Formats: sequence, C-alpha cells, structure tokens
Amino acid sequence: MRDFEIINSFPSDFIFGTATSSYQIEGQKYGKCGLSNWDTFANKPGKIFKGQNGKIACSHILNYLDDLDLVKNGGFSAYRFSFSWPRLFPHDNGKVNPEGIDFYNRLLDGLLERNLRPFATLYHWDLPKYLDDNGGWLNSETIHKFTEYTNLIMNKFGDRLFSIATINEPWCVSWLSYYWGEHAPGIKNIEATASAMHNILLAHGRSLQEIRDYGHKNVGIVLNKTHVVPYNNFEENKFAAQLYDQIHNKWFDDAIFKGQYPKELLKILRPFLPNNYDNDLKIISKKIDWIGINYYTRAIVKNDPKERNFQFKVISGKLPKTDMGWEIYPEGLGLVINDFVKNYTNDLPIYITENGMANRDTIDNGKIEDKNRISYYSKHLKEVYNLLISNIKIKGYFAWSLLDNFEWSFGYDKRFGLVYVDFKNQKRIPKSSWYMFKNYLIRKKKAD
Ligand code: FCB
Repeated sequence: MRDFEIINSFPSDFIFGTATSSYQIEGQKYGKCGLSNWDTFANKPGKIFKGQNGKIACSHILNYLDDLDLVKNGGFSAYRFSFSWPRLFPHDNGKVNPEGIDFYNRLLDGLLERNLRPFATLYHWDLPKYLDDNGGWLNSETIHKFTEYTNLIMNKFGDRLFSIATINEPWCVSWLSYYWGEHAPGIKNIEATASAMHNILLAHGRSLQEIRDYGHKNVGIVLNKTHVVPYNNFEENKFAAQLYDQIHNKWFDDAIFKGQYPKELLKILRPFLPNNYDNDLKIISKKIDWIGINYYTRAIVKNDPKERNFQFKVISGKLPKTDMGWEIYPEGLGLVINDFVKNYTNDLPIYITENGMANRDTIDNGKIEDKNRISYYSKHLKEVYNLLISNIKIKGYFAWSLLDNFEWSFGYDKRFGLVYVDFKNQKRIPKSSWYMFKNYLIRKKKAD
C-alpha cells in the first residue's frame, strides 16, 4: 500500500475529488430528460461501439445517493459533475423541466450534506437535440441559448456551487467533433471546424458574463492538454507538431489568456471565421478565476502530405499504453503545466480536473485488482507533487472517473472508474484503486 504515499505530503488545503459527466452516467431515459446530440449520434450506424448509448448508463438518477457515498467514503472532499442541458430544457419551447430542477436540487443537497464541494460544469457535451438539429455549434443561436441556460443554472443553483466551469474541453467540442468526426455530430469539414472552434469559445465568454452578472466569483473553463512532440527532428515534422500544438492547445490558450489566435493556424482558418471575430475575442478573454486541465497522454505528430488540409497525422508511440491505446506519459503533465504557467497563467489557480486511465478490469473472487490504474495514478500524483514544490499553484486533483461509464464513441467497452459498474444490474464494486485513495485520504484527513 505504499503507492500513494506521496498523498501524505500534499498541503492540507489541497482538494482531492472525483469527476463525472451527465450523459455518461445519469441515464437519459429517466426524469423526462430530452434527447441530445449523442442520442442522435448513437443512432448512426458505426459511430459508437456496438451502437450503444446513454439511455441507461449508470442509472445515476436513481443511484445518486449511493454514488455520493462512494465519493465521500473514498475520502474525497469534492465532486465534479455536469448539468445536463437537455434535462433542464428538454424541448424547444423554452419550458424548464421541473424534474430536472428537482434532481439537481437533491444532488446538491446530497453533496452539501456530505461536506463535498460541488464543482459544476455547464457543458460536458450533451447538446439538446433541437439545437443540434438546427446546426449545433455552427449556429450562433446555440450561443444565445447557452447564456439562457447559464442564467437558469445560476438562478436555481448558483449559491450552492463551489466552482463553475463553463465548457469542458472546447477542442473536443470543435476539432474532434467537426474535423475528425469522432464525436457528435460526426462532421468532417474544415469550415465547420473553424466556426465551432470560435463559437464554443464565444459561448464560454458570454456564459462567463452571465455568471459575473449573477455575482459568482469562482469561474473557469476546462481545457484538455496534450504534450505535443514531433516524430523526429526533421523540419517538416517539427512544423507539423507546431501546427498540431496550435490546434490542440494554443488556439484556446491564446484566445482565453491573450485575446488572440495563434498566427499560423489563423492564416488557415481566418477565411471561415466571422468578420468581427476580433471583437468576440475581447469577450472570450475576460478574466477567469481558475483554469482546469484534463491530462491523459502525449501526442506524437508526423508530417503526412496525404492528409487533407493540414498534412499531419498523430501516430502511435512506443510507451506502454492504456486500454484506450493512449501512451502512459506522466512527465507530460509536468511539461504541459510548466509551459502553460510560464506562457499564460502565471499564478492563476489550477485544478487538474481530469486524469485517469481505461483498463480491462476483471472481477476475481468479487474483487477488482486494478494494479495498472494504481500505478498510473501514483505516477501522475508524483508529477503533481513536483509541480507543487516548484511553487506552481495547483489547488486540486480530480480522478476520472468515479464510475465506469459511457465512454462516448467507445460505449461501455472502456472502463475508467475507481468503482466498477456491472451494467447488467447496476451493481457498484469499488476497485483496488478506490481503496488505495480511501486509505491514504482518510488517514491524511485525520493527520491534518
Ligand atoms: C475526457 C472527457 C471525459 C472522458 C475522458 C476519458 O476527454 O472529458 O468525458 O471521456 O476524456
């Protein structure tokens, strides 16, 4: 049980939490939730593993109190979750779903009763179907609707939210969904990608304004970061890596922290941006109170003239991999954050809002010994600790994820949970990694 020893050295006000998101766990069929872009996507042949969807997921709507107990009993002091937009506004008539309001009231009460800090995300990818049908993030009306949705959340729940993230991973919402087409709505088009990359940031900016008008003082956004490396030192590969870094990281970093877009990429995407994109950047770059970083792996990038538009591809590296095929590269977390702090955030508080791994977990005698996951977490926690001692202002760390859940286009095939979910009967079985956190976190709480 020495793997998580490093936890003992973390400062006593450091927040450890677990993370989830609405569509991945709640179960769309419960509580009069509307349909979303992901329900549409799941109906398209070949888009999701075995055509699976989030209709039932972890039935969290029914099991949420047990799930919150798992957070609490695991020794964590915070819970990152997302509101479901289609659950709160199921139809295109602007009417709020009272069952949705009731659920989040109960969820927040449950968190506060357990002394768990609510870290809310407003958009973790479930877009109401009626907005998706009207062009989704390509239609500026969606931005307008997002501010209305933000307003509802602030009025109903704002006083109980410890922190708010507007958007989870704008790169996934735009590039992964509109260029690579791997996420809903599954489009592969450069013009659409540029619009989505801009509109999702503007949605952040406008939502931020709304939250400020309400008076909340702990607002941020969650970015997924990857450490980008060129395949080798050839100029064409270095250029490809630089461009990919601009797409994955700097487009969002520059916009949010500097009110501009990175030069090389802007040259390519400018024709597809709105004329007044510069004005929008002023809204996008308004001050935030913290930044969330999701880190999983690195990206090795190689020039490839056969690839459309950008002439690069991301290739598979040689390090040991998780069940997602993602290389395990804890050093990348340190590299990414050091670079980010130096170039953008200075002493802005940072939360690691997601980190974790998919593993082919098996039950043996009622137990799940997920040694690989324990090793993954302990290596990444050591990186976080190294950052802390070099005076980087990291305030918290959230394990992805509390539960095995609907892993987007991979359906239920990939298991990221600290807690195993048997999807046949919704039974939860804590894995060894959950016990590892519990042992260290509870002991630490007593000692502090
Ligand atoms: C992140 C997502 C999260 C989960 C993990 C594995 O990109 O935010 O919902 O799918 O990856």
